[in-house]
Amino acid sequence: MGNYTITVLPGDGIGPEVTQQALSVLQAIGEQYGHTFTFHSRLVGMAAIEAEGDAISNETLALCQQSDAILFGAVGGLPGYTTSRASVKPEQALFRLRKGLQFFANLRPVKPLQDLFAASSLKPEVLAGTDLLIVRELTGGLYYGHLEPPVPGKPSEIRTTEQGEEAIDTLLYTEAEIERIVRVAFEAARDRRKKVTSVDKANVLSSSVLWRRVAERVAADYPDVAFEHLLVDACAMHLIRKPASFDVIVTENLFGDILTDEASMLAGSMGMLPSASLGTRRTVHGRLGLYEPIHGSAPDIAGQGKANPIAAILSASLLLHYSLGLKQEAATIEEAVTRTIQAGYRTEDLREEGREIVSTKEMGEQIRKQLRSLISIPQSN
Ligand code: IPM
Ligand code: MN
Repeated sequence: MGNYTITVLPGDGIGPEVTQQALSVLQAIGEQYGHTFTFHSRLVGMAAIEAEGDAISNETLALCQQSDAILFGAVGGLPGYTTSRASVKPEQALFRLRKGLQFFANLRPVKPLQDLFAASSLKPEVLAGTDLLIVRELTGGLYYGHLEPPVPGKPSEIRTTEQGEEAIDTLLYTEAEIERIVRVAFEAARDRRKKVTSVDKANVLSSSVLWRRVAERVAADYPDVAFEHLLVDACAMHLIRKPASFDVIVTENLFGDILTDEASMLAGSMGMLPSASLGTRRTVHGRLGLYEPIHGSAPDIAGQGKANPIAAILSASLLLHYSLGLKQEAATIEEAVTRTIQAGYRTEDLREEGREIVSTKEMGEQIRKQLRSLISIPQSN
């Protein structure tokens, strides 16, 4: 039994609805297993820009740093919608959290549930046996021009020249940045099927040539793990041709962003995929981490009860596993989700002939019901 402090950042659009369901699931876990979760909820994204003048305040960042884990919903507004401070983008909250707390390793597990094969655009025989983990580098590469103030030596801007406008982004990786993320992949593979695929574009990019060289050096320390390189374009193809052939995929920030959206369709919907962002910072219980669905704020369906809360709920499960060391509790949530899907409940994104469509809240309730039946005998220690 433990006491844990979690900073909750529901954000914008469907963020608050799906996060609410994840919180209720954590609450149910707390009651059943005798843990106390203290939640501190704060604004981020558009909501924070409107109310506090910034996508994330320094106080909120400090609070995140002091907690055992951070549960994040989603940020972003409708395309074209600007806030009172148009120069501040809601996504900056994410970048500041990721960079500020050094969450360089983003883990995105993809394990399609058999009962959702019909929801995928792929054939069931292609999906069978798929169980992969994409390890996305999260604090380097092309993304970091977004930071304010700009990072010296990493320009990202649109500028005016005599020939007209031009734009630049910088794809820079240091050896140390590559090495630490590739190590995360190999360590993860040791607990899985012992295979790492390093994805790059080494036939074109210098950053990828270095990536490949460093990955190779790290691989030598893990002779028990099978290792291969794959070009990102080929990887995109193989992901939908033979997804079951992958175990752990490790790649740079933007490639990882794109490949994980693609991979979400293996699981049937973006609404199914959780993620964990980890760094090296320790807490008394484990590693500090940020947990969020891979989907965005989907402002077009916000407030309608249509959003799938499963990605958020599975993110809460990853939180228990990685930051609080509560592995049994985490596994129980996963099992409850599987059983709820088996029982036939579907949110709008998973619509399927003959299946009952439920709201965000009802899906959360069904998962809690399964949770309670899985742990109906209270734990005595
Ligand atoms: C993700 C999202 C973010 C990203 C956006 C919201 C900036 O797409 O977490 O995958 O590109 O990292
Ligand atoms: Mn993305």
